[in-house]
Amino acid sequence: MKKRLVVFASGNGSNLQALIDACAQQRLHAEVALVITNRRTAYAAERAAQAGIPHRYEPLRPWLQNGKERADYDAYLAEIVAEQQPHAIVLAGWMHVFADLFIERFYGRILNVHPALLPAFPGAHAISDALAYGVKVTGVTVMYIWPGGLLSYDNGPIILQEVVPVYDDDDEDTLAARIHGVEHRLLPEAVRLHIEEKLEVHGRHVRLRP
Ligand code: GRF
Repeated sequence: MKKRLVVFASGNGSNLQALIDACAQQRLHAEVALVITNRRTAYAAERAAQAGIPHRYEPLRPWLQNGKERADYDAYLAEIVAEQQPHAIVLAGWMHVFADLFIERFYGRILNVHPALLPAFPGAHAISDALAYGVKVTGVTVMYIWPGGLLSYDNGPIILQEVVPVYDDDDEDTLAARIHGVEHRLLPEAVRLHIEEKLEVHGRHVRLRP
């Protein structure tokens, strides 16, 4: 039976597309059961529609405007996710930090992709930060999300990492393109290892099962 993925995305959704393609090409024996976006402009929603995948647009702002808390929104999203009974929840450019109540409920099933070699360059500007710092290599990290708030996002147990070179004539666009190319291979591969239950987590260490 195919494993079920729920994908959260706030932007272009190229990593979502990589997952959709990997499923279609059966590199991943899974289906994207639901895509959730939180920005009206997220092209990820269009990608879901084109692939015939259910999509929900669930912005935080109306909740806050109605006097609710961020935690209420997160609890609501957790219910939506739980209904799907997903094997993996993939944060693919999801620009919202979930409260621990969400992360603890699905702990060990939430994967995140980050455009740098963590622990270098955490946060929302990893590509421009790496470029500004003058590093010769950066890369891609796919990891599990840990509870613990904003800082936990970029420091969970690492599943896969790959180095990406930085060239002297790179600008943000050229470096981003090279990084995204690697993300689109690494994220589906990490999801595959997870759903095929090939991974063991020992503290911060993720190992391939023998
Ligand atoms: C990716 O660079 C990912 O590493 C980061 O957000 C970006 C999302 O890109 N978390 P896309 O929306 O998948 O194209």
